[in-house]
Order: sequence, then structure tokens, then C-alpha cells
Amino acid sequence: MNPSHPIETNGRPIILIGLMGCGKTTIGKLVSKRTGMPLLDMDALIEEQVGMKISQIFAERGEAHFRALETALLRFLEQHPQTPPPVISTGGGVVTRPENCEILRRLGFVVWLNVSPSSLLRRSVRAANRPLLQTGDPAATLRRLWHERAPLYKATAHRILNTSRVEVGEVCRRVCDAAERYFAAR
Ligand code: S3P
Repeated sequence: MNPSHPIETNGRPIILIGLMGCGKTTIGKLVSKRTGMPLLDMDALIEEQVGMKISQIFAERGEAHFRALETALLRFLEQHPQTPPPVISTGGGVVTRPENCEILRRLGFVVWLNVSPSSLLRRSVRAANRPLLQTGDPAATLRRLWHERAPLYKATAHRILNTSRVEVGEVCRRVCDAAERYFAAR
């Protein structure tokens, strides 16, 4: 299908960041379809490269190992710009390493999809593939993660979109509009 809304990004990706359940993958797919830019889902790519589910990587090799894989992938993407440039859907914890935040900002246009912890809970708590939520009190965990990471997402993003109550098609349009304005001003 032809994209309905191609965007001139000067060869650079559109990057979605935010806590698990905020819609990075769903919105990434929509933005990809609308713009014709391929979707690069970091979690999915890491799973493919390692041949293990994220939950399995956490369980068998630990979170630090997974974080190192994320950094290695970002370094690779910075050194090997993808053609055509992709829409990158990141893992929620990618901002926990300062080096990752620096690479993300250099790499492309970074959008934080900011969703409140209560909305996030409704969306993601049932996901068995989210090792960090396999706790006795997922609501408290999500609230804690949101408070810990909000400053990191904010500092890394070129643009913040508050999307708790915004339907996905509209979020997609806002991401595309923001990207268009960002790249046009460069
Ligand atoms: C994580 C979020 C997950 C995945 C991993 C760690 C996190 O990605 O990368 O389980 O630290 O918040 P999603 O945000 O796509 O769920």
C-alpha cells in the first residue's frame, strides 16, 4: 500500500520512547504505514538476534545483559544509518543508560508518548512478556517506574505528547505532524 503521508526526514529516523504499554509498537506500526518508513522494533530485533524472548533474556542472563544489548544495537544504528530511515520503537527502559539517551537524540527525532501510570496499568499489566511487571504489586511498580523515568524521557525527547486519552489514529497524526515540523526546521 502506498503511504498516505511521506515525510522528508533527511535520512533520519522517528524514535518513540515511553513506559511499557504507552503504545510505542502500536503507534510505530501506524506511523510506519502512514509514512512508508519501515518499523524497527528494538525489542523484537533483539529477540530475533539473540533467539530468545525478552523475558527469557532477563531470567537467564539478567537485566544488565539486556541493557548492554540495547546499547550495542543503538551504537550499531548510529554507525550504520538505515535506508530508508525507520520508525524506531524502543524498549521502555532504554533511557536508563545515559549513553543511550545521547545516541537517541543524535540519531533522530525522539518523541515521548507520555501516558499516566493508571492508563498504563490498564494496558500492560496482563502482558506476561514484561518481566519488570511480574511483581506482587504491578500498579506500584508502574508508578515507581514512571516517577523514576519521567525525567529521563523528558530530557531525551525532542517532543512530548501526552496521550493518555488520545485514540491511536490521532496519536499517529500528532507524531507525524511533530516530525514534519521538526525536520522542516532543520
Ligand atoms: C522494559 C520494557 C520492555 C522491554 C523490557 C524492559 C523496561 O519493552 O524492553 O521488558 O525496562 O521498561 P516495552 O516498553 O516495549 O514493553
